[in-house]
Amino acid sequence: MIDGASDTIQFAHRHLLGIEGLSPDDITLLLDRSESYVEQNRRIDKKKSVLRGRTIINLFFEASTRTRTSFELAGKRLGGDVINMSVSTSSIKKGETLIDTAMTLNAMHPDVLVLRHPDAGAAKLLSEKVNCAVINAGDGSHEHPTQALLDALTIRRRRGRLEGLKVAICGDIVHSRVARSNIHLLNTMGARVRLIAPRTLIPEGVERLGVEVFHDMNEGLEDCDIVMMLRLQTERMHGNFFPSIREYFHFFGLDYEKLSSAKPDALIMHPGPMNRGVEIDSEVADDIGRSAIREQVEMGVAVRMACLELLTLNRPETEQRNL
Ligand code: NCD
Repeated sequence: MIDGASDTIQFAHRHLLGIEGLSPDDITLLLDRSESYVEQNRRIDKKKSVLRGRTIINLFFEASTRTRTSFELAGKRLGGDVINMSVSTSSIKKGETLIDTAMTLNAMHPDVLVLRHPDAGAAKLLSEKVNCAVINAGDGSHEHPTQALLDALTIRRRRGRLEGLKVAICGDIVHSRVARSNIHLLNTMGARVRLIAPRTLIPEGVERLGVEVFHDMNEGLEDCDIVMMLRLQTERMHGNFFPSIREYFHFFGLDYEKLSSAKPDALIMHPGPMNRGVEIDSEVADDIGRSAIREQVEMGVAVRMACLELLTLNRPETEQRNL
């Protein structure tokens, strides 16, 4: 028995590489464990010793504020040793360098590697080369599982459930790992997902994932319980995806007028970083009654604590693998 975590708790996965492939039970287990950390994080004494003796390395090949900080806090609040490594994108050679770095780090016996990388599939590749657990903190436009989990925790706390809710994900879907992980999670948990964006920002064939697609905010937001806004990921754009920021905000930026198509108590969410006046109006973003944006950040720490805990529980003391 470790600090309130029953030794019968089992998470059936070695790594957390994405939401795709997780069962409703896996997701519920992660959310329930996260819930137990929300209260702990509001106390004066926030520390436990669940991860005492364990080493967590944050390996970030892309810029990050909240994700990296929140993994660091999560590891420290559970009593682990956390090392941060930020690698500037300009100095890396894809693939080969990642593997070289992985092998170097692996030799230092970390227990968890948290990886953010501009290439889709980087976390999976890393997981095949190291002995420890790997958490994907965002791989290109592919997945960002802990973001979807913290979004789900925020929604579940506000609405009491995920099943049956109508969730609109709006904006730059095509470049968004947050959108992809949320689609998988919300579908798995029985919510109904709508995507709203200009045609250029919707991935081809996305309907196959079981979502409805809209190109008009008022139509798409109609009767929605949750409105999730996304940043335009200009760093991943090669070419012109929309005529101008002004026009984009006019048609797709969330303001009170467009929001009035959703349910009167619809919750406003955004993973951050926000671009005010681009995808969201400042007043809407700061609406204390309706915006859950700050709560999402709070839930992020609790979710990452649960992920670190569940991935390190019940692991054999020594694991060997030939690299
Ligand atoms: C997101 C990301 O990095 O994918 N941010 C985050 O993790 N909070 C979304 C974004 O960068 O727009």
